[in-house]
Amino acid sequence: MTELSGKTIVLGVCGGIAAYKAAELARLLIKAGACVHVVMTANGARFVTPMTFQALTGNPVWLDPWDERRANNMSHIELTRSADALLIAPATANMLAKLAHGMADDLLSTLALARDCPLLVAPAMNKQMWSNPATQRNVAQLKADGISVIGPDTGVQACGEVGEGRMSEPEAIREALIAFLQPKPLAGKTVLMTAGPTYEPIDPVRGITNISSGKMGYALARALAMAGARVDLVSGPVALPTPFGVTRVDVQTAREMHLAVMQRVAAADVFIGVAAVADYRPVEVANDKIKKTDVGLSVALTRNPDILAEVASLPAAPFCVGFAAESQRLDEYAVNKLRSKRLKLVVGNLVQDGMGGDTNQVVLFDDAGAHPLPRASKTEVAAGIVAHLVQMLG
Ligand code: PMT
Repeated sequence: MTELSGKTIVLGVCGGIAAYKAAELARLLIKAGACVHVVMTANGARFVTPMTFQALTGNPVWLDPWDERRANNMSHIELTRSADALLIAPATANMLAKLAHGMADDLLSTLALARDCPLLVAPAMNKQMWSNPATQRNVAQLKADGISVIGPDTGVQACGEVGEGRMSEPEAIREALIAFLQPKPLAGKTVLMTAGPTYEPIDPVRGITNISSGKMGYALARALAMAGARVDLVSGPVALPTPFGVTRVDVQTAREMHLAVMQRVAAADVFIGVAAVADYRPVEVANDKIKKTDVGLSVALTRNPDILAEVASLPAAPFCVGFAAESQRLDEYAVNKLRSKRLKLVVGNLVQDGMGGDTNQVVLFDDAGAHPLPRASKTEVAAGIVAHLVQMLG
């Protein structure tokens, strides 16, 4: 993932136990391509040493407004001048209060006041401190001032209490930051999608499914949400976390997927079928586990609804995008699907390239012809598909 390539992030670290998670956050931001400069409060440096952040980021860590390493002694202004964002994580109740009231009594709060880049904060504190009316007033003020507030989460806290106030996980903060910095060409669009396999039961313990992992569909859902779309993802059974900003509906069978899609399609501007939907299901599902016998077992199958074809033939059909997973003659079969299902775009991939793994190699087929994308991670392939879609949607 290199979505933060060329971006400079100033990471502010305040004094809370969640400061240890800021080290992981710094690592994730760097892995995503960002140049990270860390500014700590004095209390932040009591939880994690500046040396940790210096080693992780390869940059000097800043604590003191009077630091003489900046030639003109203007570190409180200079540090954000080349930054794309100032992200404070963890942000303590004290820091939120200072930010809300424009106070500047240390380097980080002074930097925030003097910044000319966006500010995002990820609060972390005890649940009582979070729910305290003073903190809530400050958070409301920060939001009114255009500051992005990420989290906090609910769960077990370092003090042993359970409630709202835990800092969001580093991955979630990274995703929120990437989403914040991305252009939003799909703002105002609603995309309905399917992803993953379906599971067609034979009896209570057996069923028919396939090896789709859901990774391609989930990467695409994430990329669409990052581009500003509202994304409703109808998902077959997969072991993946819900992407940032995506609304997920879990289903098992093709008929459940069909129902979930039909219930939502009227609101969709775009429909994308990434799911590897089982074309057939058993005619009957046994109530009890089928016992083994000496003779073979035959399972009679019947056709499942073709969700994509049905959506594409609606009178007010959304812009329909299909996927084609083939083991041979990709061009011929994909173009055939484009025409027979009356789609605007088909994303073709060979099963051996795309199913299950972390990378994919796809060819986009539309009325203008075939547009191959290079083999890349599914995250990068998804970005390529979204770029093409944005062009087509004008
Ligand atoms: O999940 P991964 O492991 O990341 O793998 C990704 C993928 C290979 C599954 C994905 O990239 C892909 O190609 N998905 C489509 C797989 C497929 O079932 O293709 P198909 O040729 O059988 O179906 C064509 C299109 O019709 C697809 O958009 C499919 O979602 C849709 N369809 C098919 C059958 C059906 N009953 N209903 C449908 O909506």
